[in-house]
Amino acid sequence: MDLIKDIDIVSPAEVQACDFKTTEDQNTGKEKKVYIESYGCQMNFSDSEIVASIMKENGYDTTSDLKKADVIFLNTCSIREKAEQTVRNRLNHFNGLKRNKPGMTIGILGCMAERLKEKLLEEEKIVDLVVGPDAYRDLPNLVATAEEGLKAINTFLSREETYGDISPVRLNSNGVSAFISIMRGCDNMCSFCVVPFTRGRERSRDPESILAEARDLWGKGYKEVTLLGQNVDSYKWSPEENNKARLNKKEGEVTEVITFANLLEHVAQVNPLLRVRFSTSHPKDITDEVLHTIKKYDNICKYIHLPVQSGNSRVLELMNRTYDRGWYLDRVKAIRKILGEECGISSDMIAGFCSETVDEHQDTLSLMELVKYDFSYMFYYSERPGTLAAKKYADDIPLETKKRRLAEIIEKQSQISHERNRLDLGKEQIILIEGTSKKSANELRGRNSANKVVIVPGEGLKLGDYVRVKITECSPATLFGEVLEINPSTI
Ligand code: SAH
Ligand code: SF4
Ligand code: F3S
Repeated sequence: MDLIKDIDIVSPAEVQACDFKTTEDQNTGKEKKVYIESYGCQMNFSDSEIVASIMKENGYDTTSDLKKADVIFLNTCSIREKAEQTVRNRLNHFNGLKRNKPGMTIGILGCMAERLKEKLLEEEKIVDLVVGPDAYRDLPNLVATAEEGLKAINTFLSREETYGDISPVRLNSNGVSAFISIMRGCDNMCSFCVVPFTRGRERSRDPESILAEARDLWGKGYKEVTLLGQNVDSYKWSPEENNKARLNKKEGEVTEVITFANLLEHVAQVNPLLRVRFSTSHPKDITDEVLHTIKKYDNICKYIHLPVQSGNSRVLELMNRTYDRGWYLDRVKAIRKILGEECGISSDMIAGFCSETVDEHQDTLSLMELVKYDFSYMFYYSERPGTLAAKKYADDIPLETKKRRLAEIIEKQSQISHERNRLDLGKEQIILIEGTSKKSANELRGRNSANKVVIVPGEGLKLGDYVRVKITECSPATLFGEVLEINPSTI
């Protein structure tokens, strides 16, 4: 099962989980340099941009060169054991560097900092500073404290913090696509998941600041925004609840309750040529109203990441997902009815959850056949300390079995992805160019509305162009197209 050993395919977006660095060196004349490396989901990557902004205000430019760094931050993920192991290896490496540069501060941020709190600072002594996801405003103080050789830790979880007023410094940006955090935390208690413990209670960000950020990005030439939250469908902002009720309404100020469907609509109206995506939708919360809003606007992408986790109702109950197989399939039916066959649907799947039988595993495979996911992020279960599953259920599926089941899920997904891609052959689609092809410098890479990667010949095209293409070939993971029209009037 060597095949599986290195497969830690990651979710919406634990994309590029390996190494995300501040490759862009900012030289705005600040005295000191901070190096940031991030792991985990898109929300964590988005947090690193907030951290960079806070540090910039306090005299630090980002650097991609470890040797130049006065401060190293590792923004970490706890979702699976492997994610934490990777971080530990990096910390050992950084401590090696520190021997030659004792003045350097090494800080751990994010979910692993929140989960382990003092442990890395006091017991293991491999970091100088520990800061949880809701305490980044305190970073400049804490760095100063660490520089004095004192204990620097803040893992306070807030009920209000959304960093709504902080304008993120875009790191590793292609200048075309950007993420906008619309909420933080998670109030669901999926039994396998560490996120509610590392990110705290769910809270929604002020819609005015979200819209201001979207408008600002459009003004700077960005063409696509992705609205981020662990469970975007439960976005809810009301002036009263959020303690923002003002007696005198300012013009343009949002005073009514805003749901996710409302927010999506407002963002879509920023400009008809600004593509809007979002992640992650929860099967229990996604409403028909949201689906109709997606349909109503050409610039809201026809793609939904709807993690199922398992195709078996008993396992879903143990997972505390609060929906069953029937409910999930009904939601997929609604997507197909309202948004049609071409709407992209993807999923997250966990193989070998506690007590999962062979038949229950087969239910996951059969559900995949029914839904026909375009792609999926697939994992085997990794027990996380402190979660409900760790407390209540034995992690009793042998590793080899978990890996075998995962391999079957991956194999099934690959067949279905290929099948779905073949349906696109001969079709015309609009893609947004966002980078070069990994395989050839003469080709460019874009994505269609359904979030599939399409490779096209690069001649005459540039980043940020919308291109009408005809799909000519496909592999399980990629579509290939020919260019029909550059920057058509509608997308
Ligand atoms: N909020 C999102 C998921 C965030 S975590 C949602 O509810 O769908 C991303 C994915 O990691 C999850 O969907 C799940 O498939 C996977 N995951 C979370 N905890 C895990 C664990 N303990 N072991 C294996 N995979 C896990
Ligand atoms: Fe974790 Fe469930 Fe919340 Fe997703 S919805 S972050 S899986 S607890
Ligand atoms: Fe994200 Fe990992 Fe934390 S997936 S929320 S960085 S545990």
